[in-house]
Amino acid sequence: MCGLIGYIGNEQAASILLGAMARLEYRGYDSAGVATVDNGNVHVAKDKGKLADVIRECDIKTLPGQVGIGHVRWATHGGVTRENAHPHCDEKASIAVVHNGIIENYTEIRSRLSRKYRFVSETDTEVIPHLIRDFIDAGNTFEDAFFKATRELKGSYAILAVSATEPDKVLAARKESPLVIGLDHGSSFIGSDVLSFLPHTNRVLYLDDGERAVLTRDSVKIYDEHHNELGKKPTSVNWEWKQGSKGDYNHFMIKEIEEQPQVIRQALIQDNRLLMKMAIDILRARQVVFVACGTSRYAALIGRYAFSKIGRTFSDVIIASEFGYFSESVDKGTLVIAISQSGETADVLDGVRQAKANGATVFSIVNVVGSSLARMSDQVLYLNCGPEIGVAATKSFMAQLILLYLLSFSMDNSLSEGKEKLREISALVEADLHYHSLYIPAMAAKLKDKKDFYYLARGINFAMAGEGALKLKEISYVHAEGMPAGELKHGTLALIESGTPVVAICPTDYTYADTVANVMEAKARGAYIIGVSNVNEPIFNEYVRLSKVEEVLYPIVTTIPLQLLAYHSAVARGLDPDKPRNLAKSVTVK
Ligand code: M6R
Repeated sequence: MCGLIGYIGNEQAASILLGAMARLEYRGYDSAGVATVDNGNVHVAKDKGKLADVIRECDIKTLPGQVGIGHVRWATHGGVTRENAHPHCDEKASIAVVHNGIIENYTEIRSRLSRKYRFVSETDTEVIPHLIRDFIDAGNTFEDAFFKATRELKGSYAILAVSATEPDKVLAARKESPLVIGLDHGSSFIGSDVLSFLPHTNRVLYLDDGERAVLTRDSVKIYDEHHNELGKKPTSVNWEWKQGSKGDYNHFMIKEIEEQPQVIRQALIQDNRLLMKMAIDILRARQVVFVACGTSRYAALIGRYAFSKIGRTFSDVIIASEFGYFSESVDKGTLVIAISQSGETADVLDGVRQAKANGATVFSIVNVVGSSLARMSDQVLYLNCGPEIGVAATKSFMAQLILLYLLSFSMDNSLSEGKEKLREISALVEADLHYHSLYIPAMAAKLKDKKDFYYLARGINFAMAGEGALKLKEISYVHAEGMPAGELKHGTLALIESGTPVVAICPTDYTYADTVANVMEAKARGAYIIGVSNVNEPIFNEYVRLSKVEEVLYPIVTTIPLQLLAYHSAVARGLDPDKPRNLAKSVTVK
């Protein structure tokens, strides 16, 4: 939520910042703004709207100076207006600040400072430049004032600040919101993620909670909150920028869907000894609990069935934002498996912190190397699927499934056979992608005026119903519900009427007969059935043919057509699937 970038170097800051903001836009696209420092002045240009609109509407490209900060916003405090867009400044317009997170004590700071300074926005962020100014007015340098001001803040934050009085510095503070520093010769970057500056450098330094940073052209110093310098060493990341660019595709989402055969092969490249070690710990744990949100939670639900079917181990899945309410039953016999593409989802991090405080062991399945979740886990498995930019999770979901199957096969002591099966499936997925792309666009166009969709399935496929529905609603803005098919008759059946689309996920596995029986009940009430199966049934109005695979692996081949249906539904409705309204890729607020 919200993307930040800071730069100090020898090139025009605005153009570097705008490039970085385009790469960060998946984190927020309500408004955008830049502040640069030049010739004793802070220059600010900002507005509401997507970055491209802001660039068109205001003189942001030409801002002078080689030092600056930029921001793309996902609104929390205050509506989507120019005034609420970042950067925010002090009254003298000599300090500019961008922020990601929530300042919990902003009301009390604001009421104190508004006796002295004029506030112009409704944001929590605006207290920060005024607070820094207050400390400067009391005789502190900009840097000292920044340390004192940020120590007063409660809540979660990643903050960047620049000032006209100390023009050769970018200051940063982090608490529970990500910040990564990029080191190059003669220039320094700091962003919400590595992608923001990846075309320039892959030498990085991760800021941890409570840390502050002072960036100049040729040095980066890291401090604790009391201004004591810390010795931290940079590392390198092995992502390349071209992985994060759209190339010839219309949208990142379709590019990322099409990458999935390769994603499966990449995800299979894991350290077998680590997998076996983790599997033993899972088998020995008193209880195993998955913690995740959104699509990652649907992957966890599939993992739960795979752990049971293949690994013969019971586990539970708890939505990360609810995990804290179970803290009484979490202890050192608990093994938490946190799943997150970004590794920065606030609800997941919160749950993991709580689990660790109760003595639990934490394993994580993460995509972003060096993310907060990866760094706070006892063991990490990486998805290896490269940067995922589309807000809708696609290839990361596939990679999560692969890792969960790998753990399940390890629990069953059949890892090599399992890897072989998954490798074979990657070839099927490749052929399926081509096949489904031939007819799903037309099917999506035909269904484009439908307002409610129901996705039904049972057993391990039930989570696919949830995931299929989530994908459709988040990018097409139509109501969609996924549920265990057996639940339909307990209430939802009342909503089925003539022509209501029902996506029936019913491969010929152990769930087949019961699911088809439930689909019949919907059909009898007039439902329009989109059958997703390896066999065509007379009750289907539309048929999505699945490749035949071993029954526990059906979620892998079901994923592709459901993602394509969602993607083409959004396109058929004239929507941008990469930037769905009100959402952001990385949800770093609770
Ligand atoms: O980065 P994470 O995997 O922790 O993100 C979790 C959810 O926010 C994410 O999966 C979200 O539901 C996706 N936009 C769904 O496509």
